[in-house]
Order: sequence, then C-alpha cells, then structure tokens
Amino acid sequence: MKINITVNNTLFIHEFSNTGTTLLSYLRDVLRLMGTKNGCNEGHCGACSVIVDGKSVLACKTLLRDLDGSKVTTIEALSDKDRVHAIQYAFAKAGAIQCGFCTPGFIMSVKALLDRDTSPDEAEVKKALAKNVCRCTGYLKILDAVRMAGELLSQGKVWIPRAGIFPDRQAGIGEPVIRIDSIAKATGETVFADDLVLGNMLYAKAVRSARPHAEILGVDISSAEKSAGVARVLVARDIPGENRYGPIKKDQPVLSDDRVRYTGDAIAAVSAETEAEAEAAAAKVVVRYRDLPVLVGYDEADRPDALKLHGGDDNTIAVMESGRGDVEKGFAASSLVVEGDYSTQYIEHAYLEPESCVAAVDQEGCLTVYVASQGPPMDIDEISHVVGLPPGRIRIVGMAMGGGFGGKEDISVQIIASLGALATGRPVKYTFTRRESIRTSGKRHATRLLYKTGVDADGHLMAVQARVQARGGAYASVEEAVILRSCSFGAGPYTIPAADLKARAVYQNHAPACAMRGFGNPVVTFAAETSMNRIADELGIDPIELRLRNALETGKPTLTGDRPATSVGIKDCLLAVREALKGYKPPEPAEGWVSGIGIACSYKNVGLGIGMDDSGGASGELLGDGTLLLRVGSVDMGQGSDSTMAQILSARLGWPFSRIRVHSADTRLDPRSGMTTASRQTFISGNAVLKLADAMKRVISAFLEIGRAHV
Ligand code: FES
Repeated sequence: MKINITVNNTLFIHEFSNTGTTLLSYLRDVLRLMGTKNGCNEGHCGACSVIVDGKSVLACKTLLRDLDGSKVTTIEALSDKDRVHAIQYAFAKAGAIQCGFCTPGFIMSVKALLDRDTSPDEAEVKKALAKNVCRCTGYLKILDAVRMAGELLSQGKVWIPRAGIFPDRQAGIGEPVIRIDSIAKATGETVFADDLVLGNMLYAKAVRSARPHAEILGVDISSAEKSAGVARVLVARDIPGENRYGPIKKDQPVLSDDRVRYTGDAIAAVSAETEAEAEAAAAKVVVRYRDLPVLVGYDEADRPDALKLHGGDDNTIAVMESGRGDVEKGFAASSLVVEGDYSTQYIEHAYLEPESCVAAVDQEGCLTVYVASQGPPMDIDEISHVVGLPPGRIRIVGMAMGGGFGGKEDISVQIIASLGALATGRPVKYTFTRRESIRTSGKRHATRLLYKTGVDADGHLMAVQARVQARGGAYASVEEAVILRSCSFGAGPYTIPAADLKARAVYQNHAPACAMRGFGNPVVTFAAETSMNRIADELGIDPIELRLRNALETGKPTLTGDRPATSVGIKDCLLAVREALKGYKPPEPAEGWVSGIGIACSYKNVGLGIGMDDSGGASGELLGDGTLLLRVGSVDMGQGSDSTMAQILSARLGWPFSRIRVHSADTRLDPRSGMTTASRQTFISGNAVLKLADAMKRVISAFLEIGRAHV
C-alpha cells in the first residue's frame, strides 16, 4: 500500500505492507520523530497526540492507511533553534511541566484548540484536553498555561525567542524560576529511554508467567529460537551470575527456573531484530506448569498449612515495631478510647512513561545501561550480581524520567536488557507495554490497620496502639523499610505518652509491594487521622483544635524518641490553616454530591536516617563560554531537582541562572548521591551544591586575583 502524507510541511510517499501500522509507529519508527510519546499504545493517555488536518488525534489509534493526502503536525514543527511557540513557552512559564512525558501531547491538543479560538472558556479547554492524562501536575497549571498561551496568541505573539526565557541573573532561593528542563520538554527535545535508538539494536520481550503460583515443569524454547528475526532466547540456565535480585533481600529471580510466584514473573527473554518479532517469538515459548495454591488474602499466607513462598518457617517478609511508655496504663487512664479497623487498597504508580532501557556492551566488554532509574548506583549492584560483571565495568546513564513516584526504585527492564546485550554483543532495548508495566511493577501495598487511641476528657492523647498487616506480594522489594516508616510515623505528629505500633508484611502471590510516595506513611496516616476525627466528633472538639492540643513541639520526643532540635512547624501550620479557612466556603457541589473540608496531619523523614549512607555530591566545571556545568547524582523524575540544584548554585555563587547547565545521574560522570527517595535530594545534594558553590567562589576569586596581578 502507498500513501502521500505531509508531516511537518514535508511530503512523504510511504509504501507499507502492514495495514495495521499506526501513525504513532510511522512517526517514531520510520521518521524518528520521537517528540510524540508512546505512553500506552491503547488510546488511554494522550501522550501521542498530534494534529491531523487541524484536529488533535491519538496517533496510536490512527491507522496510517487512512491518512492518504493528510497533513500531520507534530511537536517538532512548533519550534526551531532560535524560538519556541507561545504554547510551549506558556507551559514552561506557568509551571505546567514536571516529568514532561505528557507535555508534547498536551501542547498539540492545546494547539489544535487555540488554532480555532484563542479565548476558549474553561469547559471548552477541559473538553479539548479530555483525552490527555497528566500524572504529575494536577492539571491546574495546565489550565493556567492554556490561558496564558491564548493571551499571547491573541496579542499576535506566536513565537518567543529562546534567548531570554531563563533569567540572565542570579536566581534567589524561594524565588519562582522557570524550570531548567522545561523548554526541552515542551519542544519534545528531551530524550527518554524509549526515544533512544542505537545502531544494530535488538529489541527484548519477556515471557511472563501465565499462573499466579505454580511449579515450572518445563520450558521449551525450540520454536521461539527458530522464529523470524530472533537473535537469542535466554532462560534461567543462561544467567552467568546469581539468578536473584532485590534491593534488600535478593529473593526475586530474573528468569524463573523452578517456580513462579505471580503473573509478573519472567521465565524467558527474547532478543530480536524488531519488537514485533520479539513478541511473536515470545509467544512461541511453551511453559508447562503444575498449579499450586494461590495465597492472596490477609489470613491465607498465615495458615499453618500455607505453602511457604520462599521456604523458611512462615511467609513473613519482615516485622517492625516502635513504641514508648505503657499503653495499658494509658488506656486505663483515658476518658475515651476509640478503636478502628481500617483497610487500604493496592495503588499502581501509573507513571505516564512505561519502564524502558537500552543496554549496550563496548569493545572492552563494559556494559552501559541507559535508563530512567531512581537509584543508578543501586542498579549497578543489582545488575552486577546477576550478569557477573564487576560493578566497575557497569555504567548507568540516567535518562529523562517520565514519572517515578517510588516505583522506579526497583529494577524492572535493566537486567533482562543487559543479559541480552551481553549474550548477543549488540545493544538491546527493552520497553514495557503499559499492560506489562502494570502486571509486573510493584505497588503501594494493601493494608489492614487495627487502631486503638485513648484520650483524656480534653482530648489529650494518652495512648495509641496499632497493628498493621501489609500484603507484601511475591517478593520482598523494600517492604521491610516501608513498614519501618509506618511504625515510625504511624501515630501522627503528636506528643504521645504511650504508644505501641507493630507492622508485619507477608509474602503473597501478587505483584510485590514497593516504594510509593510517602513510603509507608500515607496508609497509617489515614488510620491515625480517621481516629483523631472520630475523637473530635465524640468530644465535640473542633478537629483543628484537637490537633493543636496534641501537636508535637520542638524538643519534645517523637514516637521513636527523636527530639527535633529545629522547629517542628505543625502548630504554625495548623494555625495558618485555621486562619486561611476563616470565611472560606467550599465550592458548590454538583447535583448528588456534597462538599466539605477535611483536615489531616502527617510528618515524614527527610533523608534515609537510621544509620544508612545518606551522602551526596556535586561537582562543577566552568566552560569556556561562561556556562557553569553542574554535575549531581540526584535524579530528576519530574520533581524538579535539576532546577533546584541550579537555583541553589545560582543563589549562592551569584551566577546567572541562564548560564547553568545540569548533568545528573550518570554513574561515570556525576558524583554518587544514592537513591532519589525519602525527599532527600534537596537536602543532601542541595547541601553538596552549597559547598561546591563556596569552593568555586574561592577558586574563581583566586583565579581573578592572579589575572589582576598579571594585568
Ligand atoms: Fe504530566 Fe508528568 S508532567 S505526566
């Protein structure tokens, strides 16, 4: 079949045989226009939105065969090396860009709208953007950006010069500045791992378990090996190192050999010339299973006769506890004791960018993995262990990350791509489909929370007891650390004379539980604060007043016995909230809905603590053109850490923000700064940047002194 298609004002005559080819595949795989993103390939996320004949369409649901004579505009057409479109500028300026994976799609949908009308009302904007999903921003800034773009366009300001977008002066701490990565994200220039194409590259696909719990009786790869385009099919026996990985306990097989414990387990991995060929070959792998009982409920894994998922005496992953004082005495002295039996569900991170990486081996046999990972140095440890290369021969190059939320702390695609690259000597790309991402990746754990809270007649907390049961999944991941945080923070930011918290996580036959925003804290906060609200109701005390009476103060012990030396801030925060709520009326609810105001308090660690390595680093290089190249180990997953680091450097050194470039998360070129987790990088890497700024100030001053002496 042959079509004439105009893409970004260039006419292409394209011949193809597969009538199911989508516009998305044509743009990315044939024209290599990578600004159009592949988020789900199923028409659910809008990351692939482009304009066809004046209308925004989803490129993944648009068939190429229907586009003969059509005009297609992609994000690449909206900017050049000197200027950007007003919509791109407005998205950057309004703070509507975080990870940026959704951004090109949003901008194309907005362009189609504003090309028709530069002053749409909010309902029209929402309708035009109904197919575009953003996981990071909460949409309000996007609405601001659309308004700003409409105003610029109605003033005839279609093009904005790139020069002058970033402030050519020192950026102060706390001053809102345009994010350093925002223009590249708005123009589609930012390279995510799946946008990377290396010469002679293969594509990987894994064969995943068809059973939630089963013995593997046999794996037949003979017909997969003969399938078209296949370079290699790997099974467990091909793994050179130890076939186990995991951030705390190495209990997860890369390729399952004897048993599968959830439907995300990989059993074989195919590397082939194209993604379609890899998928076709993977479908030909035959696995014979013997089904085993499936453990999924709260109590099943604890039954005496329950199978042990990893041997041992029971299915416990970890037990954690914390406490102080005598709770029984506390309850006996209480005027009111409230008990609650709460539960929370699994939550999928749903980052817009599915997991992806490219692994390549160089002539010296060193392995480089291009991947968006929250912990590049930790990835090296995990990969090294399995592929049998020493850590010094493995490099992680951090790519832009389309959202992480804790879910990209764990290994996903990296080891299978690395094994493929080492086995074939060719670069291997492995990108999850959206379905594979949801099927395999860790989740926020589901919990059952039994809470007992006692207070005196004035609402002062006397005792809190909590029992947290966490459904940990088939492998341990970081669940042990997650429930540790539940125990540390599970009674709220209050002064409590007696507390007794215990949390236990168990193995079960489903996706592992891993880090997710708040790391074990949100679930316990939900339970503890629901109990506080019930106490406020029963005693007839205003919920804010009840919390003010109990709020932790500077120097007073927390649940774990720490005494915060600096301001805790919870009282100030509550007073500010109370003030702000004076005269506030909740928005009118839609028919059949009610609206109201809720209050909940929580606190959280900044940094790892508990004696773990919490170090970070920064280095700087002054380039010949006056640009200051800042290198940090922190990972920008959309939270803005690159911008934060640049701002800290600019503020301390007095260097123009526009003349700072940030390079981060490359384990060979950038300092090591551990995992980007626990809200630690602004504090840890940020302090390293402060020290760097002071050192650079001294070096630059000395250099200028020498220069002056020579003059
Ligand atoms: Fe929209 Fe991340 S900025 S998904």
